[in-house]
Amino acid sequence: MAATTAPLEFDATRPIKMSSADFSTHKYDWYRWMLEEAPVMPAKISVMKLSVVSRYDDCRMVLTDDRFIRNRGKATGKGTSPLPFFVPKGIAAIARSMILEDDPEHRRLRNLVNKAFTPRAIASLSDRIESLSGDLLDGVVKKSAIDLLPRVIAEMVGVSDDEMHEFQNSVRILSTGLTGLSIAKTLVWDLRIASKFMRKMIEAKRQNPGDDILSALIHAEEDGDRLKDQELLAMVFLLILAGFETTTHLVSNSVRTLLEHPEQLERLRAQPELWDSAVEELVRFRGPVHGTKLQYATEDVEIHGVIIKKGSPVMPILGAANHDPRAFDKPEVFDISRTPNHHLGFGFGNHFCLGRQLALMETKVALKNLFDRYPNVRLAVPPDELKIMAMPGWHRHVSMPVLLD
Ligand code: HEM
Repeated sequence: MAATTAPLEFDATRPIKMSSADFSTHKYDWYRWMLEEAPVMPAKISVMKLSVVSRYDDCRMVLTDDRFIRNRGKATGKGTSPLPFFVPKGIAAIARSMILEDDPEHRRLRNLVNKAFTPRAIASLSDRIESLSGDLLDGVVKKSAIDLLPRVIAEMVGVSDDEMHEFQNSVRILSTGLTGLSIAKTLVWDLRIASKFMRKMIEAKRQNPGDDILSALIHAEEDGDRLKDQELLAMVFLLILAGFETTTHLVSNSVRTLLEHPEQLERLRAQPELWDSAVEELVRFRGPVHGTKLQYATEDVEIHGVIIKKGSPVMPILGAANHDPRAFDKPEVFDISRTPNHHLGFGFGNHFCLGRQLALMETKVALKNLFDRYPNVRLAVPPDELKIMAMPGWHRHVSMPVLLD
């Protein structure tokens, strides 16, 4: 389906429907308008009301100012649950990951997981990523079109070949099952199955540690503190959720962006030393994560004349901030040598992405292999037939079919 050409109705008094096809498809037009005319806007995700901020400085403020916290229960004074809805007890423990917590609890968990993400652990993944990416491309070479799907997270967790199918199933449950109408079924049924499988994997790693990050997580220790079993499971789920879909969609968004900017791709081929800055620019220009988890106001806060009421949620729109002309020179220009490039595509503040280094490395290897091996790679459909998924806080395509020869 081609993108609709109907005029967009920008109206600062009507909440933006973030789950709508109109917003998803035209989000960069919305962003341009919000940045100039409505830097704080009411919005809706399904039935939930929230505020969104779009300007670079405002996003950074909301992510670092003590008046905004992650734990909804604490901000509203209604308990300590970070979740806005009821979930069964067993599942709640898993859902309480550090991305929804504030310091000091957040710091404690983050310090422990940092121990597993040492530069050495990441470097030792590098070779495997190289060959995985090669295998992936070898596997598709005879086909005319592919969907790019990195399997690096499986490698990170140390999944063996015969567990791969079940693992990918769990990843699918976690990543797609937790949105939309399937959420109830996921919470009540699928998540239990995924948890059982993951617990089995954790137990196996405990008996037989490898040099993967999961093994390192199990043994991570600071000041005599370790992750408890539930925390370990929550952390593995967080890493899968935070690391798998993000990287997959950065790669696919990047393929499109590079193919739509052939002069930049040419430059990259002539100057491969630009790959590092190119990947940073890809995250700024068409990164997959456009909104952080919600920040809740602990008191009434005024931003540009709009009062964010105590206890109410705000989402910083990273995708808009990354195109704010107050922060970036010619933000609409895709420039693989852009420096400095202080984009917010990996978030900001306490919850800044823990997997940034890994994500940059994976993406560089996947893209470099693709464009080196297949000099004629091109989109299999006209760009305006590529559909954007209607998922608040994301910028991701339904699929990214490419022709290789
Ligand atoms: C292109 C790939 C990626 C992008 C664009 C990305 C982006 C982000 C963003 C925007 C945040 C902040 C979210 C917030 O404030 O609510 C974040 C947090 C996080 N990311 Fe990533 N990420 C990527 C890959 C990864 C990978 C590969 C991993 C791990 C293997 C990872 C692990 C995490 C974790 C654990 C957090 C939460 C940190 C905390 O709460 O302290 N990410 N990421």
